[in-house]
Amino acid sequence: MNLPDLCIAKDRQKTPISYLDIKHDYQPVFKNKKYFLRTYGCQMNVHDSEEIKYYLEALGFEATDILDEADVVVLNTCAIRENAKDKVYGYLGRCKHLKKLKPDLIICLCGCLMEQPHEIENLRHNHSYIDIIIGTHNLHDLPALIIQKSPVQQIEVFSNSDQVWENVRYERDSKVCAWINITYGCDKFCTYCIVPYTRGRERSRKMENILQEVQELKAAGYQEVTLLGQNVNAYGNDLNLGYDFATLLEEVAKIGIPRIRFVTSHPWNFTDQMIEVIAKYDNVMPYVHLPIQSGSDAILKKMNRRYTIAEYKELFHKIKAKVKNVAITTDIIVGFPNETAKDFQATLDIVKECEFDNAFTFIYSPRVGTAAALMKDEVSMAEKQKRLKQLNDLVNSYSLKSNQKLLGQTVKVLVTEASEKDQHKVCGYTETMKLVNIEGGQDLIGKIIDVTITEAKSFSLDGIVKEKVLTK
Ligand code: 5AD
Ligand code: SF4
Repeated sequence: MNLPDLCIAKDRQKTPISYLDIKHDYQPVFKNKKYFLRTYGCQMNVHDSEEIKYYLEALGFEATDILDEADVVVLNTCAIRENAKDKVYGYLGRCKHLKKLKPDLIICLCGCLMEQPHEIENLRHNHSYIDIIIGTHNLHDLPALIIQKSPVQQIEVFSNSDQVWENVRYERDSKVCAWINITYGCDKFCTYCIVPYTRGRERSRKMENILQEVQELKAAGYQEVTLLGQNVNAYGNDLNLGYDFATLLEEVAKIGIPRIRFVTSHPWNFTDQMIEVIAKYDNVMPYVHLPIQSGSDAILKKMNRRYTIAEYKELFHKIKAKVKNVAITTDIIVGFPNETAKDFQATLDIVKECEFDNAFTFIYSPRVGTAAALMKDEVSMAEKQKRLKQLNDLVNSYSLKSNQKLLGQTVKVLVTEASEKDQHKVCGYTETMKLVNIEGGQDLIGKIIDVTITEAKSFSLDGIVKEKVLTK
């Protein structure tokens, strides 16, 4: 097992980053063939899957949602918690069975799980029916590997990268909202987290390339862009070009696309300039996802989070004071090794004080290779589950409370898609990222409309288009 070394972050900065263009010379060599793609994990993976879709469709494959119909299966995996990994291995059983019926089927695994050496060893020895294993740094190698289909398992994984690929193309899931990668990797090394190992060193794209991508998306009619990074507000720190995330955010805002979001911010990199830009531009959404992880200073220290609760609170209240009607959401881990009842109580206390609009809560899951995986842990799983339930009940009560504040109010909603449950409804998001179900036709998709909120639940709102309210 590799012991994590906090110095790696410093060493990683020493080699210069190279910026390379992907050459798009794919031919549609596959006719009447289908691909089946499953994505696990975070927005980064969802966006990577848009890149994968681009390659598969450029080669001539058509999408299918039915596994049995597939000629290529791609599983884009996640390593953040054990349950994400379990889901992938569960699915592999079905793929193995299908391969027996269809020997020409190409099975490909990619994503964060493929950046863990012990997983590769397991796949190499116990899952030889998998054709292609590819890492997070070289997705663009996928078309060549599919074309060169080999009788033996092809493994193309690089453990780290000093490269940033530009000119990447995507088959985007939405015509309304688009993801834009602005940084790759992470140098923070929170002790529980596998991301610095699976995604490599922190590296920023050049500002001019990002701004060009935003311009193109605006010209194509997109209403919203979300700037993406594991540590989005560390943007620019590795470039030493004199600009940072606040500079980039302001330049993106000036382009005039109607809505701009960014995820995920680290409290340590959250500057006053960022707060000013969010407050100044109407098209930078008043929504900040600001993971706190724990309410206990002792646990935060063991997590290597680099802030105290007092510092987090100061930042939280500064954002609330300066950005009108801002919504703040967070991530919380319960059951970090040897979390005491007092530590957990401190987490409940901070949730009560901050009244987060929403919180994503997780039971700590040890990841091989991280520092926390070596820490002693005497807390039972039953106790951790009890704490998670208690935390969720509290978090949900505040989500409901913040949603109820909108009852009867008229808010701006960007309609993003048709409702899956009701053909007479569409869904969209408020500026503060709250999901709203609205009565209305698909002609509303892609529009920002005034919606009056008629019902508030913990996880969503119901509303009607304002003109309809007026005519009632
Ligand atoms: N166990 C549980 N939760 C984790 N996260 C990251 N690593 C782990 C882990 N090993 C959570 C953090 C992070 C979110 C994306 O996932 O809360 O912010
Ligand atoms: Fe993981 Fe986020 Fe910490 Fe980076 S900042 S190590 S991605 S939790």
